Amino acid sequence: MSDLKPYIAGHFEPVADEITAVDLPVTGTLPKELTGRYFRNGHNPKPGDVPTHWFRGNGMVHGIRLTGGQAQWYRNRWVRTPALDGAPYVREDGSVDLTASVAGTHIVEHAGRILALQEANLPFEVTPELDTVGAYDFHGKLATAMTAHPKEDPRTGELHFFGYGPFPPYLTYYVASATGQIIRSEEVPGAGPALMHDFGLSDNHVVWLDLPVTFNPAEHSGVPYRWNDGYAPRIGVMPRTGPAEVTWYDVEPNALLHVSNAYEDQQGRIVVEGPRYDRSAWETSWKWWVGSSGFPTAPTVGAVQHRWILDPATGRAVEEDLDSLVTEFPTINDGFIGRANRFSYAVGFPGDELPDYAIIKYDDQTGERQIVPTGPDRMPGEAVYVPADGGTAEDDGYLLTVTSDLSTNSSELLVLDAKDIQSPPIATVQLPRRVPGGIHGSWIPDPEV
Ligand SMILES: [Fe+2]
Repeated sequence: MSDLKPYIAGHFEPVADEITAVDLPVTGTLPKELTGRYFRNGHNPKPGDVPTHWFRGNGMVHGIRLTGGQAQWYRNRWVRTPALDGAPYVREDGSVDLTASVAGTHIVEHAGRILALQEANLPFEVTPELDTVGAYDFHGKLATAMTAHPKEDPRTGELHFFGYGPFPPYLTYYVASATGQIIRSEEVPGAGPALMHDFGLSDNHVVWLDLPVTFNPAEHSGVPYRWNDGYAPRIGVMPRTGPAEVTWYDVEPNALLHVSNAYEDQQGRIVVEGPRYDRSAWETSWKWWVGSSGFPTAPTVGAVQHRWILDPATGRAVEEDLDSLVTEFPTINDGFIGRANRFSYAVGFPGDELPDYAIIKYDDQTGERQIVPTGPDRMPGEAVYVPADGGTAEDDGYLLTVTSDLSTNSSELLVLDAKDIQSPPIATVQLPRRVPGGIHGSWIPDPEV
């Protein structure tokens, strides 16, 4: 096996430069309603850089502009943060520079601003053409780091998010109005120094994941967190309105990076779903993320779709695995954030049950799943759901995913029919270069005029 760190090799080998290409070749028919931008963030260290952790590589956004049935352009740009020029996160005096971010985890749009996110830092605003504007602190109202997984309430347009860190206040909850003004900022009582990559937002509650990967200064990879058997794993449920009071539920020792969805069921219980890692799965996956000896062949090992049901009547959590496939990057129709969803999507990882990477669609109602292998040497990215114009069903829409192909050293944007992901792609956009494997992305539709 190569000595190369896995996150700068193979599918993840960085590109060395920024390019722009126009009038991209399209196979099939791009729906004209897909008028906007598909942006995908990920870690792309500068040439010669070997970061100590996958998540420490400089953030680069790959953007594809679709309009009126045409693929107008592709461009890739580093997020130009102080960290790109080598600024340290911890200054010589021990203080933290929240602008020293690689900003490589996610990219979202809210209230007309496009923000590149990484959870230990402030957001970085970029333009629709991917030029970096700079760090953004919501006009001074954001005093902590910001999660890379804010959630827009589909009913109100509010953006709910949080900042977490290894020292008090461990966890701060924020709400920004539909126009982008922070209207609530509150310390969450009872939270601890857990790694909290994501959270849940149901119609009436916020869900906090206080799980057993915690701050550990002995971890020198640049992401100072490790599995902690001594930490009591809990999920917290806090009403979205009223005083910040959290009901904590003891749960089995699993870590969770991503929440597929959270919602209240008809009995008023809180349902939380997402791919969970037990200790072995976490520590094996972590070997890939830091490139330590014996790292596995894929960046996620052992994460399986899981459901927690938190019952306020009993104060107890009931939980179960929903599937045995190894998956990550769960997505849903974001119009269902906070309420019961039937369908979810994920990237399937090669392992005992899958020979290759795949896109998965789960149907919670029937228990069925569709699996679309992307084939040998090919890897898909997160499948972003885009609703179809005039659609009525939850899955009346498209899945957008960028695949990379090592055999041809190329990449494509696939537009899949979310209703039947096993049918041939509705359209395939040929990209002018291989896009390295990355993290999260968003479809940003043009503003309505
Ligand atoms: Fe994430």
